[in-house]
Amino acid sequence: MDRFIIEGGRPLKGSIEVEGVKNVILPMMCAALMAGKGTTVLENVPRLQDISVLMRLIEELGGTAAYDETERRLTIDAVNLSRTIASYDLVKQMRASFLLSGALLGRFGEFHISMPGGCAIGDRPVNFHLHGFRKMGARVVEEEGLLGAVAKRLHGAVICLDYPSHTGTENLMMAAALAEGTTVIENAACEPEIKDFGNFLNAMGANISGHGSPTIVIEGVDSLTAVSYRPISDRIVAGTYLCAAAITASEIEVLGSREQDLRMVIDKLTDMGVMFEHTPRGGIVAKGPRRLTAVDITTMPHPGFPTDLQPPIMACLAVADGVSIIRETVFESRFIHAAELNRMGANIRVAGDKAVVVGAPSLLGAPVMASDLRAGAALVLAALSAKGTTTIDRIYHVDRGYERLETKLAPLGAAIKRGDNRA
Ligand code: EPU
Repeated sequence: MDRFIIEGGRPLKGSIEVEGVKNVILPMMCAALMAGKGTTVLENVPRLQDISVLMRLIEELGGTAAYDETERRLTIDAVNLSRTIASYDLVKQMRASFLLSGALLGRFGEFHISMPGGCAIGDRPVNFHLHGFRKMGARVVEEEGLLGAVAKRLHGAVICLDYPSHTGTENLMMAAALAEGTTVIENAACEPEIKDFGNFLNAMGANISGHGSPTIVIEGVDSLTAVSYRPISDRIVAGTYLCAAAITASEIEVLGSREQDLRMVIDKLTDMGVMFEHTPRGGIVAKGPRRLTAVDITTMPHPGFPTDLQPPIMACLAVADGVSIIRETVFESRFIHAAELNRMGANIRVAGDKAVVVGAPSLLGAPVMASDLRAGAALVLAALSAKGTTTIDRIYHVDRGYERLETKLAPLGAAIKRGDNRA
């Protein structure tokens, strides 16, 4: 198993480019399975573990998926897709595999996917997805660890989500795209990825409006066609780089990101003392102050503060001047990184959905362990600012959503190496 070895305390300087966002590439890969003819081409795709897992799942279902690393292009051909059962071995590696359900149900009228189960950040049930499928006329079946649904042809329905679930909204958009009649999703997720996903489905021939707002209207169509598409850039990866500038009191230019997707994050970092500038080539330069200032943060669905940046911002607040209160409202147990940050000298107390962060003057290197993707990113940030050496184990979590992070940070001056923990 790989680990990161990081010598902290070095200032960073330079530019860093953000690629396409995993959290829309994954649903787009699934939606590609609804195209009965042609080859789907996705551009600006990073090499990430989650994308590799979904490629293997697509092959298991009878499709083909190929990645050209030089061109950063992913191609998917689903013409010969024949199976509707996704097995446990691959599904257990990535909860987002459940995004296959909306696509398979839309195209074949059935799916059987190994039950996704919980993960380090919470129980993460899929009841909202199933509620929507039922409303569209599907019969949900559960047997031998498989969760499935069957329908002759789905019909349009008005579906009110209890909570604006991100992948729930995407799954229902896919199923409704090929259903008969009109579907309305109320209290839909409004993340920029949902907007981009709707645009992608429309390019395939779907008839969707309102995506990006809480009410999405989908007029079902008979078929969808494969297209070429360039997904938007990853706002969470971009936000992580901005946090890297903040925590190391450095100046970093982030290229290829979309400022409109990062407003809340830039606002909070500004309150913390980070200065921002635009460069003529469209970059955002973040310049961290000598010492950050404490702020309070509450995570919320978009356009609120993203839960995926809560661990990175917690690392920054761990060395800010003053006391910050972080409230996590999206996932019930997304504070595991707090204990690891404390091992590096942070002073964080967690009580229920709140974390009280008393800013320390600095952090100290220590052996720590990533418990999930963004927790891992938070530990990398903490290690970059800490005095001494930090080793971070289980970085396979980080590789799920950040492409070879060491190759991005080292050119900025970070002393970060990938090693093997058997060494
Ligand atoms: N929820 C339910 N029932 C459902 C669906 C969700 O109770 O049927 C609850 C969840 O347990 C959670 C809340 O609703 O408490 C929000 O979950 P949501 O469904 O929005 O999350 P998701 O779709 O499973 C996506 C991202 C996550 C990101 C969240 C929130 C993908 C593949 N994953 O997950 O990304 O944190 O939205 O924005 O898009 C990450 O990238 O590190 C990551 C975890």
